[in-house]
Amino acid sequence: MKLLLVCLGNICRSPMAEGILRDMIAKEGLEWSTDSAGTGDYHVGEAPDKRAIKAMRDRDIDISDLRARQLRPQDFEEFDLLLAMDASNLRNMRAIAPNAELVGKARLMMDFAPDHALREVPDPYFGGDEGFREVYEMLTIACRNLMKDVQR
Ligand code: 4NP
Repeated sequence: MKLLLVCLGNICRSPMAEGILRDMIAKEGLEWSTDSAGTGDYHVGEAPDKRAIKAMRDRDIDISDLRARQLRPQDFEEFDLLLAMDASNLRNMRAIAPNAELVGKARLMMDFAPDHALREVPDPYFGGDEGFREVYEMLTIACRNLMKDVQR
C-alpha cells in the first residue's frame, strides 16, 4: 500500500499525517510506504513548520527529515490512495488528476474518522500551538482507522 498525504503547503498537516502513519506502519511491521505533498509550491524544499515538528516531537515522533514538495499528476499513478486534509485540497488534487478513473484514488482524510465532529483538518498555519495539537489528535484518530480499514 502506497499512501500520499496532501495539504496546501506540505509543511504542517500532511507531514504530521505522514509522521503519524510512518510511526504506526513501523510499529505494525507493515511494508506500506508513505509520502506527502502540497497542492501549492510556496514551501518546496523546506522542512516542516517548527510548530509541527514540536507537536510531533512531544509525542516522540520525529518529522524533521521531511521536505516539502508539490503534488504532481504522476502521483495518481504512483500511489494507491491520496488523502486530502481539506475540501479545497481535494478540489485542487482532482483538477490535476490524469484521468477520471484515477480521480477516485483521492479522498478526504477525515472520511476515515466519520464520528469526529469535523470533516476537514483545519489549517493550523496562522494559529498557535493549540491548533497543532488539535491537528495531531484528529490525524491520530483518522490514521488509526485507516490502518484498520485499508486492505493489507
Ligand atoms: P499546510 O499549512 O497546508 O498544513 O502545510 C499551510 C502552510 C503554509 C501556508 C498555508 C498553509 N501558506 O500560506 O504559506
